[in-house]
Amino acid sequence: MPRLFDSLTIRDVTLPNRIVMSPMCMYACPNEDGQVNDWHLVHYTSRAVGQVGLIVVEAAAVTPNGRISAHDLGIWSDEHIGGLRRLTEMVHAQGSKVAIQLAHAGRKATVPHAIAPSALRFNESYDLPIEMNQEEIRRTIKAFAEAARRAKEAGFDIVEIHAAHGYLINQFLSPLTNERQDGYGGSTDGRYRFLSEVIDAVRTTWSNSNPLFVRVSAHEYAKGGNSIEAYIDYSRRMKLQGVDLVDCSSGAVVPHPIDVFPGYQVPFAQAIRQSTGIATGAVGLITEPAQAEEIVRNYRADLVFLGRELLRDPYWPIRAARELQADIPIPKPYERGW
Ligand code: FNR
Repeated sequence: MPRLFDSLTIRDVTLPNRIVMSPMCMYACPNEDGQVNDWHLVHYTSRAVGQVGLIVVEAAAVTPNGRISAHDLGIWSDEHIGGLRRLTEMVHAQGSKVAIQLAHAGRKATVPHAIAPSALRFNESYDLPIEMNQEEIRRTIKAFAEAARRAKEAGFDIVEIHAAHGYLINQFLSPLTNERQDGYGGSTDGRYRFLSEVIDAVRTTWSNSNPLFVRVSAHEYAKGGNSIEAYIDYSRRMKLQGVDLVDCSSGAVVPHPIDVFPGYQVPFAQAIRQSTGIATGAVGLITEPAQAEEIVRNYRADLVFLGRELLRDPYWPIRAARELQADIPIPKPYERGW
């Protein structure tokens, strides 16, 4: 049996296989209320029908001004719990596990009142963000904790904190975007402090039986930015704080070209896994079953996240099972087709 189809237990949650749907914003909330609608229910449940082991629901904003766009999914209010619960029930009914990514866009918000660790804009097309004061920092950390409580009430198995792609938490972590002179900047300890406090706060409202993932940009590429060594250090700290898996993406902290090719971010997942012993997820241009199998079989990562390939083919795990000659469950109504 290929390892891609081995189950994996983290805390009290058992994933049926190692295939993960990477979080992908749908910008599909036309009413600008952050509410789950039919699109989200159909979109995510289709991948569960396709036997994706873990579905990570797209970046959900923990505050209204933390949205990338006005059409983002939201988790900033108790009014979001009902729709999200419907979504987890539908995914669970197909046997998949489901996570939600908790996000704040910081200076990359395109809605009013963008905030950031320092008043530096991403580029000319973005607003100049307001530098967060201590009160704003405290409120935002609390918003992540409240969002995790809502995720628990909505029935999610896993929470992923979005600390990648140049959004708010990444802006604190990176020397390119954090010029603070107080306790939230200045040194590695200072730049890590915001994420550290978000993790601790989320751990108080999220369940101890359920895993906590963090997505990072494990390389920032631009001169003066964090590289993999910094993220090995941050991952060590996260492990001590009870984070269960680091999902290893890269880039997008400042405008900078990235050399992109199949599996280009896998070495980050491998380096963090081997250096710290924390579980990792690999993501980025992973499209072929043999490629995914190679990653888990060689212990380069514990989970394989697929993004765009799962937009093209919601039933990718079925194709992978066929190509890798694995016997996996398929939905009974589809048996005659498959
Ligand atoms: C993304 N990506 C992304 N990443 C993330 O952490 N949170 C998000 O909400 C989104 N949103 C998003 C939307 C869309 C339409 C795309 C295509 C991508 C990045 C995504 O999760 C993944 O890391 C990259 O797409 C690279 O993986 P693939 O697509 O090469 O498998």
